[in-house]
Amino acid sequence: MQIHTAIASLRAARAQAGRVALVPTMGNLHDGHIALMREAAKRADTVVASIFVNRLQFGPGEDFGKYPRTPEADREKLEAAGVAHLFAPDEAVMYPRPQGYHIVPATGQADILEGACRPGHFRGVATVVLKLFNIVAPDLALFGKKDYQQVMVLADMARELALSTEIVAQDTIRAADGLALSSRNKYLSPAERAEAPRLYRQLAVLADAVRAGARNYTALEAAAIEELQRHGWQPDYLTVRRRIDLQTPQRTDEALVVLAAARLGTTRLIDNIEI
Ligand code: PAJ
Repeated sequence: MQIHTAIASLRAARAQAGRVALVPTMGNLHDGHIALMREAAKRADTVVASIFVNRLQFGPGEDFGKYPRTPEADREKLEAAGVAHLFAPDEAVMYPRPQGYHIVPATGQADILEGACRPGHFRGVATVVLKLFNIVAPDLALFGKKDYQQVMVLADMARELALSTEIVAQDTIRAADGLALSSRNKYLSPAERAEAPRLYRQLAVLADAVRAGARNYTALEAAAIEELQRHGWQPDYLTVRRRIDLQTPQRTDEALVVLAAARLGTTRLIDNIEI
């Protein structure tokens, strides 16, 4: 695997790379990230992974400083997954001066759910992802549905700005007990880790009820939120939305997804299930 810290070096490698798939990450790689790399390898001649902890997408009180950084272990995992090129710039390469131009995602999409809880988050995500696309010029880029709203925002950005990169969404990879893999799971104490799968279980209970014909979303949401609170969680939201734009369902024939974000101790976890 070639490691590039400079834009020029990555671009030179890209010129001979054929059909290129990009998998952007913030590092501290787990099996969810690696599943994206393996899928990328099936769909392209060359896989480019990027690792960059993007300051722009973290809010003032968030975990930018303590976000886990594990470069050596990450490199070994990427090698083992057959990734050809790693783009791992430092901040001076990505943001040689404070970023003045930004991609501002559409209101109504970026200011609900995660965007409401984390103002400016999707602006930071969209800006860095467009910048990575401009550096790598990938034919396709793969993202996880674990960050459901993120994929939606990026797919809409690609469509509305006529980007030539195809956005591919992949299923969430989970631990055996259902907990969605996440770099932030590292923050959980052993007791919290044992409790953490309840988030997925509550989503599954709600999804099963809707699949069985229940339409009283508000009552189902309230019951799930209460159950989490009884076990020490502080939910930000747990809500049934239509997949297409994450707005409240209006008709009975719409494809749905149930999404949640909740804090367990100081760790904020998100998850979702397509219904
Ligand atoms: P990061 O959290 O490192 O995630 C990188 C990619 O891995 C994202 O597309 C995310 O959805 C996916 N991913 C994370 N956990 C997953 C899981 N359990 N199963 C499947 N896919 C999973 O998301 C980001 O970084 C950043 O916002 C980024 C897009 C890199 C922009 O900075």
